[in-house]
Amino acid sequence: MSENSKIQQLNDMRVKSHLGGGQVRIDAQHKKGRLTARERLDLLLDKGSFREVDAFVVHRTTDFGLDEQKYTGDSVVTGWGTIEGRLVYVFSQDFTVFGGSLGEVHAEKICKIMDMAMKNGAPVIGLNDSGGARIQEGVVALGGYADIFLRNTMASGVIPQISAIMGPCAGGAVYSPALTDFIFMTRNTSYMFVTGPDVVKTVTHEEVTQEELGGASVHSEKSGVCHLAADSEADTLYLIRKLLAYLPQNNMEDPPFVPGDDPLRMEEELNSIIPDDPNKPYDIKDVIHKIVDDGQFYEIHENFAPNIVVGFARLGGHSIGIVANQPAVLAGVLDIDASEKGARFVRFCDSFNIPILTFEDVPGFLPGTNQEHHGIIRSGAKLLYAYCEATVPKLTVITRKAYGGAYCVMSSKHIRSDVNLAWPTSEIAVMGPEGAVNIIFRKELDAADDPVKRKAELVADYKEKFANPYVAAQRGYIDDVIEPKETRPRLINALEMLSNKRDANPAKKHGNIPL
Ligand code: HXC
Repeated sequence: MSENSKIQQLNDMRVKSHLGGGQVRIDAQHKKGRLTARERLDLLLDKGSFREVDAFVVHRTTDFGLDEQKYTGDSVVTGWGTIEGRLVYVFSQDFTVFGGSLGEVHAEKICKIMDMAMKNGAPVIGLNDSGGARIQEGVVALGGYADIFLRNTMASGVIPQISAIMGPCAGGAVYSPALTDFIFMTRNTSYMFVTGPDVVKTVTHEEVTQEELGGASVHSEKSGVCHLAADSEADTLYLIRKLLAYLPQNNMEDPPFVPGDDPLRMEEELNSIIPDDPNKPYDIKDVIHKIVDDGQFYEIHENFAPNIVVGFARLGGHSIGIVANQPAVLAGVLDIDASEKGARFVRFCDSFNIPILTFEDVPGFLPGTNQEHHGIIRSGAKLLYAYCEATVPKLTVITRKAYGGAYCVMSSKHIRSDVNLAWPTSEIAVMGPEGAVNIIFRKELDAADDPVKRKAELVADYKEKFANPYVAAQRGYIDDVIEPKETRPRLINALEMLSNKRDANPAKKHGNIPL
């Protein structure tokens, strides 16, 4: 073979590899409203930055006639590239080859990329579009999944791991994304379930569509499996690019610094944002937008447990994670879903050196048999554990209610928060005035000639005593009471003061978070 024909052979093989399962299947993929594995990588990565590896890998299976069907590169495209100039490792499952199913070499390709990402300290992004374990390969395919699960677990807390579900993700295949830090889904074209509609019908006689069982809406609103959902694949991939801007490359780095607007900016409107009536709602996101750099807040889990708000922003150019009770939904109460949502986010931030800012306005934990029977004790403990364990800089702003156990949980000074500020509208107490008076003055109220009048007096007295930040301030449980308008400069100052913070937990194999 001449030099030229060798190069021709290489180029032909490359073209073959790029064609995946062939034009007919590419057209079928487009007809379903989905992009191909390579088109997705083009949108995800900086232009021209993708470097593919293992483009010439082929499977080794001979059973079920598979030796007659070999596709150069098999059913996943792997390699590395950059996002805003920063290195990322990627794999993108190719549905046009055996339905993106995972066999031995597909798994090997993913494992190679994950091993490189771990060694070189950069995020891994997986674009999932697969019919699951390659049925013809049997246990070898299952072993391949397990090889990936192990790597997902080892990489957890070392490098950020991001999954996007771009098509089917069924059966045990869901557990690799589930082990990663963030799951993105595209509405109407992606779904995730452990058992599909046919099995559900056989076992439970329920009739349910794929979308109803495991579409993006279900997972971003009900189950909480999905962290961010977008309307199109392009939007999904764009959101991943945006997320990475807040994250470090690995756990040994700080997140990137990006200067923002005036760090001394005062926000006069914050001085009147809390309604006079303590039971009236306001939107904590309005508070967040006014305080963070350029009003930019990247929300995670927006539609799941909206009574707590979590997401990333910047303060004085520093990336931070925000956890905030949302008085506009269920009065900002903590329930099972909110506790789990908050706990997972706090642990992510702590793993990756992202300081945590907590906004607190919480009337307590949600009462009721539903919550108790489903384990609010266990779930609330997760949030408490996560905050206690976190050693990153922690800042807290109490805007209004800090009642009961929720006062302790929401990054109180007692559990190692570094700087705790309160607005003058704060009420820090074991419970709200009405409930407290009903309990401690029950006998007196029963005996009163005019119980309504007497109760009003007692409530006023209680408010005077406890419904303010000064009892806590007298004891140093909060560091300062500030005017709301100065919150931004005060937080930026605190964050910079904490920039060399060192804190550690006792040496141990690992803790035992109440899962
Ligand atoms: C081998 C597969 C495959 C699989 C799909 N294909 N899934 N090949 N193993 N798991 C092939 C099809 O034969 C077909 O090949 C091509 O991919 C496209 O599939 P279609 O069925 O034509 O596509 P569509 O109608 O869009 O349906 C997609 C689908 C369906 C819903 C994903 O293919 C499906 O139900 N597949 C099986 C899903 C499943 O049960 N997987 C195992 C889950 S258990 P041709 O040649 O015609 O193009 C599991 C265990 C993991 O994953 C355990 C880890 C712990």
